[in-house]
Amino acid sequence: MIRAEIGVLGLGVMGKNLSRNLANNGFRIALYNRHVEGVEENVASDFKSKHPELKKALDFDNLSAFVQSLEIPRKIILMVNAGKVVDLVVEQLADYLEEGDIIIDAGNSHFQETNRRIKWLNAKRLNFIGIGVSGGEQGALLGPSIMSSGDQAVYLKIQKYLEAIAAKDSNNKPCCVYVGPQGSGHFVKMIHNGIEYVEMQLLADCYTVLKQQGKSNEAMADIFEKWIEDVGSYLLSITVEILRKKDNNTYVLDIILDKATNKGTGKWATATIADCGEPATMIPSALFARYISFFKEKRQQAASLFSQNSKPNTVNSNELKSAYQFSRIINHHQGFSLIKRVSDQNEWGIDLNEIARIWTEGCIIKSELMKSIATTMNNDKPILFTNPWYSEIETSYTAMRYVVLQGIESQLHIPSMMEAINYFHGIKTSNGSANLIQAQRDYLVPILMRGEMICQV
Ligand code: 6PG
Repeated sequence: MIRAEIGVLGLGVMGKNLSRNLANNGFRIALYNRHVEGVEENVASDFKSKHPELKKALDFDNLSAFVQSLEIPRKIILMVNAGKVVDLVVEQLADYLEEGDIIIDAGNSHFQETNRRIKWLNAKRLNFIGIGVSGGEQGALLGPSIMSSGDQAVYLKIQKYLEAIAAKDSNNKPCCVYVGPQGSGHFVKMIHNGIEYVEMQLLADCYTVLKQQGKSNEAMADIFEKWIEDVGSYLLSITVEILRKKDNNTYVLDIILDKATNKGTGKWATATIADCGEPATMIPSALFARYISFFKEKRQQAASLFSQNSKPNTVNSNELKSAYQFSRIINHHQGFSLIKRVSDQNEWGIDLNEIARIWTEGCIIKSELMKSIATTMNNDKPILFTNPWYSEIETSYTAMRYVVLQGIESQLHIPSMMEAINYFHGIKTSNGSANLIQAQRDYLVPILMRGEMICQV
């Protein structure tokens, strides 16, 4: 038997698509999926039989045989759900692996978990690499954006596979990069997702403004479609498609409940923001908007208790587009500043230009804005202080203020837009109010030290 160059463990949709991508790039691969009686049976062999490009792939539902089918050092990409499953699978795998073998976790794992796993496996003389993979199911098949990290010498052994399957940027360079040591690849993917949460919420904010004017789904789709030319993004394009999607003459969007869930990366990003001290306030705004959405009954109760606005807002589509773009610049400014802050704190040396470059294709947050950031960004200068974004913020500020004012007048819930302007006002206030906070803190310290007295009162 000719051994396989690389193995894929876990054949859910993402695992299957990534396997096909590897095979389409000419690699000899081995496929493994567990056997669960009556639930997951012959998954690898059935999958192989359906796709001609997998003709030469080796298929297994026996872990030991799968491991033995791989060239040494073995390279195994884990395509399993983030969390405890990764530990379980790694534990099982470790029994069959030998010194120098490489496990690559391609899931949305928490970067600190990746740091822990690296130490754990290094103690067993095994290598563990965390890679952030963005692009969803289509990206996995046709070319995702890949944020790799860990021991650089180990990365060099898997680089050719990752670069081959990655999306290509406008210069035909792979959207795959070695981000830095430890779990920095998973960290950057987590912030990618945080930026993604905000980009989604900003589109939801625009939808809120337009919906309150009584615009139909088609009319909103027409407006967003016109924006694609100058402020195009993958998320804007899918929003147009979503708005137009019908099922038996009913707009699908209108029958979806207004409750948005999450798989956790936005929550982790928010906790990291609080830990590292970078005021990236828009990611929490988008996360908490999802949390508010989840309280449907409480919202219904409050809606019946408090008076509602009936006057439609008078924002026009150009003003809305400017406010959307203003907010997106702040979002990207905050996201990249956050990466820089954590990179500096951990001495990871992350190159922000490279991150922007690999986010120009393949990933969920690819956009025209990202392309311009990739060509113009300076690692040491925040986006907000750099042209062309500085000028764009200046010119769109009037429209941004108007949209937010109208939002207040019309009692709209547009949390990420509100947070964008709130942050902007905060960051451009050279003499703020924190002196009062400091004075209050100083005043409180002696009183708090007299704890018994306060209790007596
Ligand atoms: C991607 C996406 C993908 C997914 C996230 C967020 O880059 O391919 O970020 O990873 O969209 O897991 O999911 P939730 O919105 O469910 O948290």
